[in-house]
Amino acid sequence: MDSFFCSCLLRWRYSCFADIDLETWCISTKGVEECLTSKTKAIIPVELYGSMPDWGAIHDVARANNLFVVEDAAEALGSQCKGKGAGSLGATGCFSFHGSKSLTTNEGGMIVIDDDDLFKRILFLLDHGRIAGNVFPVNVEFAFKYKMSAMQAAMGLALIERGQELVDGKREIFNWYAEELGDIDGLKLNAEPVGVVNSYWMTTVIVDPKYGMDKFILMEKMKQEGVDTRPFFSPLSSIPAYADTEEARVASKRNINAYAVSGAGINLPSGLQLTRDDISKVCDALKRILKG
Ligand SMILES: Cc1ncc(COP(=O)(O)O)c(C=O)c1O
Repeated sequence: MDSFFCSCLLRWRYSCFADIDLETWCISTKGVEECLTSKTKAIIPVELYGSMPDWGAIHDVARANNLFVVEDAAEALGSQCKGKGAGSLGATGCFSFHGSKSLTTNEGGMIVIDDDDLFKRILFLLDHGRIAGNVFPVNVEFAFKYKMSAMQAAMGLALIERGQELVDGKREIFNWYAEELGDIDGLKLNAEPVGVVNSYWMTTVIVDPKYGMDKFILMEKMKQEGVDTRPFFSPLSSIPAYADTEEARVASKRNINAYAVSGAGINLPSGLQLTRDDISKVCDALKRILKG
């Protein structure tokens, strides 16, 4: 999907890259509807940088078309939609504990699920397709090995106890940026629509085309100012791995929002160690660049 990332083991040749919503940067229902075929089985909304899609509308489309919803909450630990936490909005919620995430075990992740049968099936699949408790381990099906070490799990549990503190830290960083950049004409920061709590994994700024800068030019200028930034994720249909597929060709013409947003966006420094003063320096650098 051009909702940028896909943490699920989809066979990509059967997948479709859906467009995003300009406001939330998450998959849009229009994007989903453009992709629907009689073969469509699931939607994978990605909660980009902590944002939430319009979950009410996504569930309506899913129900109407009998689709399974896999929630990619990898970047959204601590975000909420109408009081429901990220990870609890799809039939399964997937989190990443990769080193870049607010809550990290260096590598690894978590699936949140409220269905006993599916839970058992996942336990089976992540352990080489072996039946739990079988003393003579036989691989009953071709499967995977997605196991976390006990040490990593201990680290993760300790960090979960600090979960709210981590989210509060990210929200404070975002608010500092918003204070300094929120009123600048032609800049757009991560959205937090009514009913949503955004955990702002990475504060991200989209620069209006009137500044005549794409994300790589802006990143280079920020670097010259001594500020390290990252590019907005690229639409999946634009990356070399998919370049030769018909789906990517179609999506690269159709998914106007994904291409517009990703071409003009950078992630600003968002580490939890940053101070108010650090954020001011980043904002001053950005303002100097935009003034030309
Ligand atoms: C939205 C999203 N989905 C999936 C992943 C993949 O997670 P992992 O690297 O833990 O497999 C990431 C990780 O960076 C992500 O940001």
